[in-house]
Amino acid sequence: TGYITHDPGFVNTGAASSAITYIDGDAGILRYRGYPIEQLAEKSTFIEVSYLLIYGELPTQAQLEEFTGKIQRHTLLHEDLKAFFSGFPRDAHPMPVLSSAVSALSTFYQDSLNPFDEANVELSTIRLLAKVPTLAAYAYKKSVGQPLLYPDNSLGLVENFLRMTFGFPAEPYEVDPDVAKALDLLFILHADHEQNCSTSTVRLVGSSEANLFASISAGINALFGPLHGGANSAVLDMLEGIQAEGGDVANFVQRVKNKEKGVRLMGFGHRVYKNYDPRAKIIKNTADEILSKLKGGDQLLDIAKKLEETALSDDYFIERKLYPNVDFYTGLIYRALGFPTKYFTVLFALGRLPGWIAHWREMIQDPATKIGRPRQIYTGYASRDYAPISER
Ligand code: CMC
Repeated sequence: TGYITHDPGFVNTGAASSAITYIDGDAGILRYRGYPIEQLAEKSTFIEVSYLLIYGELPTQAQLEEFTGKIQRHTLLHEDLKAFFSGFPRDAHPMPVLSSAVSALSTFYQDSLNPFDEANVELSTIRLLAKVPTLAAYAYKKSVGQPLLYPDNSLGLVENFLRMTFGFPAEPYEVDPDVAKALDLLFILHADHEQNCSTSTVRLVGSSEANLFASISAGINALFGPLHGGANSAVLDMLEGIQAEGGDVANFVQRVKNKEKGVRLMGFGHRVYKNYDPRAKIIKNTADEILSKLKGGDQLLDIAKKLEETALSDDYFIERKLYPNVDFYTGLIYRALGFPTKYFTVLFALGRLPGWIAHWREMIQDPATKIGRPRQIYTGYASRDYAPISER
């Protein structure tokens, strides 16, 4: 009809009021609780940022110690939960393994079911922050057929995760401080991004008063898709594909512009940013440093930079305001840290976890919250009479 009757993709629909994250997509601004992402990336830590997102303020020293201590006490999984990991095929994608395991937390912690019981919401919050890294490390270990490691609670959150992922039971594991710092930074940059697809999913599921574990498991599934968190793996597949075909960046960009089916410049474009994604800017600036420290450079980084340069000077991308997003350079860093491509989106999930929790808590406490229940424009038959099967 030419009339706008609904809003596909919610391009122009506000679904919540929120005090957590501010984005100005035209100016390329991102702030958590008012703090610019650039300052948090430079000066803060992921555990501090998690506290900030969930409780609204940066912690004092005493609050940070208490928070860290609580998380450290909850990193172990119930022994029976481990059996869960044996049930999946070894080559399973780790995202559905992770979402299933998070969903299963409701069965182990049945005290979590009442979303208005503040003490239990607090306990579920700590359990998630503590146990999801353990679950993520187990998903990795299963995929490579290695024994699972218990958490070492003398370590910080990121260090513990690295040890459980890359360590072996009988061997001491030295956490490389450069690796831990790089991962901590990437987690900070992924920690929240207001009403994105997975966070909106967490809020929508939570609006039915489903508990934190159920809502966050749904968010992990939303993140799995290649247009959302799955883009970080897709970028690396794309770069490797270009490399395998001789590094012809111009040819690839032409295929994107021709809108060949299934060919998009992955890691480019964003619903909100019509300018350089501030997270991508930080990551690009640190990618060189991290990659040369860890790997002595990476040819794929050169292809990525050439791709960016070609796209940013091309009318197709200029007219559509398509810039690199957070996923464009992250995969290269994850690869240098030793993670397989299939696992990258799990790292995004670990980073986004405090944001999802903060939004769920904000949603459940907001007196304006109602169950999410969109309407539709019905386009089917008006009405018709049932015909018996012999007459169809
Ligand atoms: N490559 C080529 N063309 C693109 C791209 C791209 N990456 N992104 C958008 N376009 C084109 C699109 O074809 C459309 O052109 P036209 O007007 O001629 O039809 C125009 O730009 C507008 O795109 P859209 O698909 O309507 O924009 P959207 O806001 O619905 O989608 C997006 C946003 C992020 C899904 C999209 O840009 C995309 O698919 N990017 C690649 C996947 C990606 O990197 N996702 C990660 C997003 S950031 C982190 C996260 O959320 O996880």
